[in-house]
Amino acid sequence: MINLTHTITETQITIQKQKSEGKTIGFVPTMGALHEGHITLIRRAAAENDFVVVSIFVNPIQFNNPEDLAKYPRTLDEDMEKLAGTGCTLVFAPSADEMYPEPDLTEFDFGQLDKVMEGKFRPGHFKGVAIVVKKLFEIVTPHKAYFGEKDFQQLAIIKKMVSMLQMPVEIVPCPIIREADGLAMSSRNARLSADERTEAPLLFKALSGIKENYSWFIPDGTKQLVTGEIQESKYFRVEYVSVVDIETLQPFEDWQDVEHAVVCVAAFIGSVRLIDNIVLY
Ligand code: PAF
Repeated sequence: MINLTHTITETQITIQKQKSEGKTIGFVPTMGALHEGHITLIRRAAAENDFVVVSIFVNPIQFNNPEDLAKYPRTLDEDMEKLAGTGCTLVFAPSADEMYPEPDLTEFDFGQLDKVMEGKFRPGHFKGVAIVVKKLFEIVTPHKAYFGEKDFQQLAIIKKMVSMLQMPVEIVPCPIIREADGLAMSSRNARLSADERTEAPLLFKALSGIKENYSWFIPDGTKQLVTGEIQESKYFRVEYVSVVDIETLQPFEDWQDVEHAVVCVAAFIGSVRLIDNIVLY
């Protein structure tokens, strides 16, 4: 039986009871509209912890686009059904008033980490993510928290926040889960039309192609090639393609400049914004 709580107090009481019995707490924060990507994180959390908490909260303060917030799917009943048999033991699904009885004015300084890519194109987004994840960590007090690598920059920001605030939680990065045709799983995929859905795997095709061939080009040339390949489709509008250091997320000039590099992309297909990435080396 999965326990469903809507208040912070009830959630804390439930979790503290488990902790007092010596149980370890695994946590998977989500905004709901669960798909196989989330389920994989939850199963991993269940394999590595005694008690697994999933939060379902569409966090209004991380949306820089009101239309995106309004259209974000809210499917709690279906989500609860999908969670059956995954090992999830508690779902925390608060209201916005429960999470933010007053505006949360916390400020973070992530240096250059949130000035590029998503941070540049979605002003305020990472501040909203950091505020909610900090708050959720304080409520759930997990031993381990699980995040997908599709949101590569989000993962870097959360790791940085945990380190800056010395929070006693281990962040566990989990590989991107893809559909059979390569499209990275995302709650936003449900909003694609049939034609857009057929075209969407091009994003991963462009990324996996460049993983094979990047050493023939300089980093900037790689960026141009991936952008060009995606733009060839009339369905896509590329927002950015960035070739960056895996740690700092900053661009660089030569492959020898960094130990590990990742290509990150954000592109609109119709009105749906998709992101994806691939680690080159
Ligand atoms: O990745 C998400 O779904 C959200 O950004 C998160 C981490 C649940 C915070 O709202």
